[in-house]
Amino acid sequence: MKYFIQTYGCQMNERDSETIAGILEEEMGYQAASGPEEADLIVVNTCCVRESAENRIYGSIGQLKRYKYKNPNLLIAVCGCMAQEKETPEKIRKRVPHVDLVFGTHNLHQLPELVRRAQESGEMVVDVWESAGEVREHLPARRGQKFKAWVNITFGCNNFCSYCIVPYVRGRERSRRPEEIVREVDELARDGCKEVTLLGQNVNSYGSDLEEGVDFAELLRRLDKVEGIQRIRFMTSHPRDFTTEMVQVIADSEKVCEHFHLPLQAGSNSVLRRMNRGYTRERYLKLVDEIRRLIPSASITTDLIVGFPGETEKDFEDTLDMVRRVEFDNAFTFIYSPRLGTAAARMPDQVPEPVKKERLERLMTVQYPVARRKNEALVGATVSILGEGKSKTNAQVQMGRTRTNKIVLFESSKDLTGRFGKVRIEEAKTWTLTGRLVD
Ligand code: SAH
Ligand code: SF4
Ligand code: F3S
Repeated sequence: MKYFIQTYGCQMNERDSETIAGILEEEMGYQAASGPEEADLIVVNTCCVRESAENRIYGSIGQLKRYKYKNPNLLIAVCGCMAQEKETPEKIRKRVPHVDLVFGTHNLHQLPELVRRAQESGEMVVDVWESAGEVREHLPARRGQKFKAWVNITFGCNNFCSYCIVPYVRGRERSRRPEEIVREVDELARDGCKEVTLLGQNVNSYGSDLEEGVDFAELLRRLDKVEGIQRIRFMTSHPRDFTTEMVQVIADSEKVCEHFHLPLQAGSNSVLRRMNRGYTRERYLKLVDEIRRLIPSASITTDLIVGFPGETEKDFEDTLDMVRRVEFDNAFTFIYSPRLGTAAARMPDQVPEPVKKERLERLMTVQYPVARRKNEALVGATVSILGEGKSKTNAQVQMGRTRTNKIVLFESSKDLTGRFGKVRIEEAKTWTLTGRLVD
């Protein structure tokens, strides 16, 4: 029996898909299929953070129906964040009734039983838990690569930013015990892993639900000592909860990379307040100053939303102003998408779609040249990269990342995947650097 997993959304979902693959292989004897046409079980791991993501997923689940004609025993399962939304099972029945199984983000570990139920039942099986139980350790995982790995440190989110659906579909914040995280990173290192990325919706609040008294700063201190690991990354940071001590620990550490993905979301204090972000633009700027003072080589990237309810032209200009002041290394820019059940979806003064689109354009026009300029400053420099394999668009070209998370493209007859190299940068674009491997 073979399985194929389609994953949408963030690294949390990527990591969950590794667990799903692990369970299917180790507990059920499935093997990975090279494509959906070869599979006996297709799992679609979904995201619902914006409406556009959801629409794309329904389209793609629709496409899967044809594989059932060729393989009548094919099972199609839908899981992940979208599955946690109350209206989803009904929507699936209406729009894509060829789905056999729907399960949520809290009951991955039940997969063997769920698949068996779906095989035996003639009808769609729906099993979605409303809330998460305790953190489950020791689930199997089939990881994407050997040399780098994602490591959950918290699950869920308690922040309830007013636009965001994540707390509703991922449940309350739960931290993994520090010993478990250190053990996992240590095992990964013994297995040849060189880079770990610590995952949480707000890594800076790590440990607040634990009795151990271990916070994110202390966790980083402990992980920095794990032998064999050479790079430690973390995401996502929350500007409200990023303490000076945390910045200092990163500055002092050997392995923690000097890249901060620090979502600003909006530059206007009134929008930030209504977003329930818990910081002001002044506090954000102070944090950026602190980071740059203690770690001058740090890169800072961000997420920005345009068209939040009630966002005026003046509010939007405050976002542009912040983008100019901070000079982000890069930014992911989003059009606000109302999500059912969130506070912002019920707010008055929703911004018309054409205005949102126009603001997104203007935002990119300001931010992209900044990103390019920042990258151009690296032309002529020699940077250390960890090779990640062939570039997605050109098989002749390999891709690697700097500690600051910049993507570097280079050519080499040697395969640098999972190995460190030195690249002299020759050309800079908005999202990538190109160079020559010198060592
Ligand atoms: N926990 C992380 C990331 C959450 S989702 C954080 O707090 O930053 C990733 C990004 O999607 C967010 O940073 C935000 O910019 C964007 N996003 C979330 N909900 C959105 C919505 N309803 N509309 C548009 N963008 C949204
Ligand atoms: Fe969503 Fe805010 Fe939690 Fe991030 S911190 S997942 S934006 S509620
Ligand atoms: Fe999407 Fe869920 Fe991540 S909604 S962004 S996959 S936590």
